[in-house]
Amino acid sequence: MHPRTRLRVGVLASGRGSNLQALIDAGQKADFPAEVVLVLSDKKNSYALERASMVGIRSIHLSPKEDDFYRKLGDEIENFETDLICCAGFIRILPPEFVSRFSGRIINIHPSLLPSFPGLHAQKKALDAGVTVTGCTVHFVDEGVDTGPIILQAAVPVLPYDDEETLSERILVYEHRIYPLAVRLIAEGSVHCVDGVVLYSGNVHQGSSGFISPVTE
Ligand code: GAR
Repeated sequence: MHPRTRLRVGVLASGRGSNLQALIDAGQKADFPAEVVLVLSDKKNSYALERASMVGIRSIHLSPKEDDFYRKLGDEIENFETDLICCAGFIRILPPEFVSRFSGRIINIHPSLLPSFPGLHAQKKALDAGVTVTGCTVHFVDEGVDTGPIILQAAVPVLPYDDEETLSERILVYEHRIYPLAVRLIAEGSVHCVDGVVLYSGNVHQGSSGFISPVTE
């Protein structure tokens, strides 16, 4: 695919940026139909900004203390002719005016099988609830907290010896798989969101297998 035909992705990140890295790595493959062109962070010392700079992607820090923070954020995204906005560990709740400005073009990754365990510390909430399966979700962003139409999910077992760290690490492996996959499906036109419903076509097939956790045999 010619580089100019690729979907232009802007990433919002507040922290270490491992999901950003997964998207950058995917975009460096010649056959991937999207590329990260811009990284915006509300945290000056976010490692996400450094990851972007290291590979020559424009990285911008905007302080949330500034007036019109979300308007400026949106202006940067428009200046870069960004087609899709990926929230990757962005710790802010996007206000309705921002969500409607980029309606249907914002997606998020969350470390649980939504709608279970939205908000912060999703992995700890899963442990506290005693579930034996959790996972991660990529979804379109609406005005709620980790709500919005679901695009992809991966199920991950919770093991008896897990603490927040071990469970988070196991889930993160799958986050790094499904986030680029979701971006690919959107870029290829295989996923659309119409009136709050996700529609699939093209390269998306219904699987018939599942798994039971804990494994007993
Ligand atoms: C990821 O686990 C992501 O799913 C989570 O923040 C982490 C960011 O890690 N996001 C949320 O909890 C959203 N509610 P990263 O900076 O290494 O990508």
